[in-house]
Amino acid sequence: MRVHVADHPLITHKLSVLRDARTPSPVFRQLTEELVTLLAYEATRNVKVTPIEITTPVTTTTGVKISEPRPIVVPILRAGLGMLEGLVKLLPTAEVGFLAWSATRRPSSRPRTPSGFRTISPTASASRSDPMLATGGSLAAAIQFLFDRGAKDVTAICLLGTPEGVAAIEAMAGDRDVTLVLGALDERLDEKGYIVPGLGDAGDRLYGTV
Ligand code: URA
Repeated sequence: MRVHVADHPLITHKLSVLRDARTPSPVFRQLTEELVTLLAYEATRNVKVTPIEITTPVTTTTGVKISEPRPIVVPILRAGLGMLEGLVKLLPTAEVGFLAWSATRRPSSRPRTPSGFRTISPTASASRSDPMLATGGSLAAAIQFLFDRGAKDVTAICLLGTPEGVAAIEAMAGDRDVTLVLGALDERLDEKGYIVPGLGDAGDRLYGTV
């Protein structure tokens, strides 16, 4: 498994504003979108492309286009929805699938079963987006779900992760093609399952339910 932890002052700056408990929902949503676009730039580094001939106003040359089948972007409801716009801005031709948990977040009820996912093509690359990699239980189940439905490689983009979350994904990934792109690697989980220092409940902060 490849793990990339962002190391860019713009990303750290935006994350710092997200972490601030005083940041209101509209700003939180806007910054999440911007952050995801920056993280998606890194996450798409290995996207498959096909050479094409193009004619410029001056001459003909060789360019590239994103290969078929196109990547599939899979936000996980609810908080992952806040990441969708930022991703499709960079990958406008990507297909979009949705993944929803059959129950709301209850740390005691893992592993959970995803439901409501659209069928994906057998050769697809999937880019799954959920802002917070906490224990890794949800992400591991989501990645397994995508591989079971034919994904050949999965790239997960998270705003924040924890060492235990990364270890859990590493263990489930084995020798499969999984890439993890994190905005930052935080210290740990607290006893309630929140990332420390973290930013609180991402879904609540995105949708103004705090
Ligand atoms: N999910 C969140 O939204 N926040 C956390 O800190 C952990 C999981």
